[in-house]
Amino acid sequence: MLLSVRMAPPLTLIFLTLIHGVSSADWGVNYRHSHICALKHSAVIMRCTYTYPTGYEIRDVFWTKNPVKVEKLPDLSEDPEYSQRLQYLGDKQNNCTIRLSHVTQKDSQMYYFRFTTNVTDGKWVGDPGVTLTVTDLQVESPETVTEGDSVRLTCKSSCTLTDRATFIWYRNSQPLTEKRDRKNQLLLQSVRREDAGRYSCALQEHTYISPAVQLSVTYPPKSVSVSISPSGEIVEGDSVTLICSSYSNPPAEMSWFKGGTFVGSGRIYSISKISSNHSGEYKCKSSNKHGEKYSDTVTLNVMYPPKSASVSIIQFGQFLEGYSVTLICSSDSNPPALNFSWFKENQISSVGSGQSFIALQSERFYCEAHNQHGSQRSDAVTMDSQYPPKSASVSISPSGEIVEGDSVTLICSSYSNPPVEMSWFKGGTFVGSGRIYSISKISSNHSGEYKCKSSNEHGEKYSDAVTLNVMYPPKSASVSIIQSGQFLEGDSVTLICSSDSNPPALNFSWFKENQISSVGSGQSFIALQSERFYCEAHNQHGSQRSDAVTVTVHHGAAGNLVFVITVASG
Ligand SMILES: *[C@@H]1O[C@H](CO)[C@@H](O)[C@H](O)[C@H]1NC(C)=O
Ligand SMILES: *[C@@H]1O[C@H](CO)[C@@H](O)[C@H](O)[C@H]1NC(C)=O
Ligand SMILES: *[C@@H]1O[C@H](CO)[C@@H](O)[C@H](O)[C@H]1NC(C)=O
Ligand SMILES: *[C@@H]1O[C@H](CO)[C@@H](O)[C@H](O)[C@H]1NC(C)=O
Ligand SMILES: *[C@@H]1O[C@H](CO)[C@@H](O)[C@H](O)[C@H]1NC(C)=O
Ligand SMILES: *[C@@H]1O[C@H](CO)[C@@H](O)[C@H](O)[C@H]1NC(C)=O
Repeated sequence: MLLSVRMAPPLTLIFLTLIHGVSSADWGVNYRHSHICALKHSAVIMRCTYTYPTGYEIRDVFWTKNPVKVEKLPDLSEDPEYSQRLQYLGDKQNNCTIRLSHVTQKDSQMYYFRFTTNVTDGKWVGDPGVTLTVTDLQVESPETVTEGDSVRLTCKSSCTLTDRATFIWYRNSQPLTEKRDRKNQLLLQSVRREDAGRYSCALQEHTYISPAVQLSVTYPPKSVSVSISPSGEIVEGDSVTLICSSYSNPPAEMSWFKGGTFVGSGRIYSISKISSNHSGEYKCKSSNKHGEKYSDTVTLNVMYPPKSASVSIIQFGQFLEGYSVTLICSSDSNPPALNFSWFKENQISSVGSGQSFIALQSERFYCEAHNQHGSQRSDAVTMDSQYPPKSASVSISPSGEIVEGDSVTLICSSYSNPPVEMSWFKGGTFVGSGRIYSISKISSNHSGEYKCKSSNEHGEKYSDAVTLNVMYPPKSASVSIIQSGQFLEGDSVTLICSSDSNPPALNFSWFKENQISSVGSGQSFIALQSERFYCEAHNQHGSQRSDAVTVTVHHGAAGNLVFVITVASG
């Protein structure tokens, strides 16, 4: 616009000379568009018609442009910058249409049509001409948009394009075929991650494409995952790297958790020499300003050879004449040791396998626990280890009935290490010590309940009680009078025979003193005469006779009973 004003004076001078001879009403150039806005690299058609009075013959028709400084107006088709691109589509009658292809910013000028006739002053320039503005396209877009929001991209030109063409959009050079529109805007509703990219715009049937503009979509971390390197089995001492991967924009900060405990930050969590206490469940957290997300947990299961192998005693037993001990080998390993070997100290070849081992000899044993990662041997233990008394019991010799005067031996048995001290109790009373308790001439007062106590420094144990029941013949037989009464014409006296014996005497005999044959049997005897009587008590072990007692039977009148017993003690 400014340009055309500045250019006006020289042209006016030309026209003034021109207008003198002719009427301007007959002369003219008519442009379809006074302003043309064209896209860079496109072809522009400037439609144009011209008129002149009859009686003239057209000589030259051509187009020229600003700046016009020379007397003779230059023909654009002779300008090397235009000659290849310019095509006169009109004629020498009235059509002055022109086509200019491959326009660039430099072509933004005012263009005029010029014609001359066979009459010297009969020439004309169509002023003002056609103002051509060549524009490029620029995508206007925010740099970032948050996922889920909507965004509007504008394809900007510096002037309103004269040809109302259809806009085409490209993302990463791929046309968005569904996004063709007469409007120069692209609306992305509820933006997704996939919408990020380099956007450019163009016009349909035009080769020019705008510079691309990056649209980035921000979003919270997604698909957070952990990978372990190396994959496969992890053995103590390995170097292990955990890598956290996630998609996010802007890039996420990552942190690491073992169980619920924070253990480090950064995309990579390295453990240079892994140990068994690193076993556990790990996860990473990926976070940016839009949110955070945890990965699934991954498990580190660190394998290691057996450590802290040890032997313990789990059971005592008896083996033929001796004792046995069951040993068990324990160790801490991953995977658990399933292979064990047993050795006598100072011997090379193993004496057994399996987690447990029954030792029959007093020896020093050790075990070796194996898994696929190695082995470890335990300290040696002496099988002859100490334990409290196990089971105590009493046996009686001879077995069977015990009769007063016999020799009787009680034997206490018990297992223990070190050997026990044994002591003997009758009822609750200590009666002796030692494994054997002998009674050389047993008497009735030895009858009773006996038990032995087995004890060492680790404990003590009582046997069950056994009963000694000592048999003996009747002793201290005696006669007593328990009743007097009447018998027919006279009085009578009832005598009873008592004795101490085991088993109790059930067989009694009664005698008159100085007579050999008995006068009665049974525990009681009725005396009818005044006499001296004695009794004899029997059991299967013998008999004893009592002292004689004097029985006086009164044969008084009228039932008055008087009797006198004289016991002659001896
Ligand atoms: C110009 O050409 C026209 C048509 O051929 C003719 O009539 C006229 O005389 C010419 N004018 C001059 C000055 O030669
Ligand atoms: C002028 O010529 C062009 C190209 O041949 C044509 O498209 C146009 O219709 C013509 N204009 C007139 C008014 O005859
Ligand atoms: C793991 O064990 C090593 C020695 O084996 C020790 O130095 C370290 O402190 C332990 N770490 C944990 C977390 O217990
Ligand atoms: C147990 O370990 C020993 C020593 O490494 C090996 O010779 C033996 O084959 C292993 N036995 C089993 C059943 O794995
Ligand atoms: C058992 O009887 C004998 C005699 O028979 C006696 O010497 C001893 O003291 C008695 N013992 C007890 C424990 O009564
Ligand atoms: C009682 O003892 C006497 C003398 O030993 C014997 O002759 C008699 O058979 C015994 N009687 C009974 C019933 O045991």
